Amino acid sequence: MKVILFGGTGMVGQGVLRECLQDPRVEHVLLVVRHATSTASPKLTRLVQENFFDWTSVEDQFNDYDACFFCLGVSAVGMNEAAYRRITYDLTLSVAEVLVRRGVKTFVYVSGQGTNEHGRAMWARVKGATESALQQLPFAQVFCFRPGYIQPLHGVRSKVGWYNAVYAALGWSYPALRRIARNFVTSTEEVGRAMISVAVHGYPKQVLETVDIAAAAQRP
Ligand SMILES: NC(=O)c1ccc[n+]([C@@H]2O[C@H](COP(=O)([O-])OP(=O)(O)OC[C@H]3O[C@@H](n4cnc5c(N)ncnc54)[C@H](OP(=O)(O)O)[C@@H]3O)[C@@H](O)[C@H]2O)c1
Repeated sequence: MKVILFGGTGMVGQGVLRECLQDPRVEHVLLVVRHATSTASPKLTRLVQENFFDWTSVEDQFNDYDACFFCLGVSAVGMNEAAYRRITYDLTLSVAEVLVRRGVKTFVYVSGQGTNEHGRAMWARVKGATESALQQLPFAQVFCFRPGYIQPLHGVRSKVGWYNAVYAALGWSYPALRRIARNFVTSTEEVGRAMISVAVHGYPKQVLETVDIAAAAQRP
């Protein structure tokens, strides 16, 4: 399987990239970033793109890929709805519309637990509208992942400094947290494995909550 990865410099995306590079079912990864990165692998090609709203000059490079793992996203904290929607909805759809035209079969989107198009929280409505719009596009499969708390594993770091302090503090209790709150707690490893699994085998639901992510990740 050949995969296009967006958001591979972020916490979720770093974890997904690690799993893709380790998994023999993933033959090649095209990492789309806005700055150069140092990860090296014979399986990896980088596309550095400044403007994530205009793919005209590079869209040929998206031909012949099977799946897109879309881990790009921002926190809504401190953002107004228009600015949050611009990244969350407009940017995601600008990418997805190009990829579906280029024949990518599977689109996996990282949303979040509590996403609800008609909910009270602004972020939940915008993510919900994004999920709905993606599901209307003619991909063979669209999966929306709604993780709750994600524990970074294997040296994955958040881009937000103080988050890393929180993750380090909670890291020792991660196995217990998982047992106590199976509906809420996952890891970067599990999210990455689940993405590969749903792209290869499909999944009975389009929207995967934390327990579904765990179930998909555990399939052989
Ligand atoms: N972290 C969690 O616990 C958690 C839980 C549930 C859901 N999620 C969701 O997962 C997604 C990723 O979260 P994360 O924690 O991995 O975030 P993160 O560490 O802040 O990474 C964000 C990623 O998005 C890219 N990005 C942000 N704005 C961009 C823009 N305008 N143009 C191009 N690239 C842009 C960043 O690229 P640069 O490196 O170039 O900045 C980076 O690769 C988000 O949608 C988030 O809501 C996260």
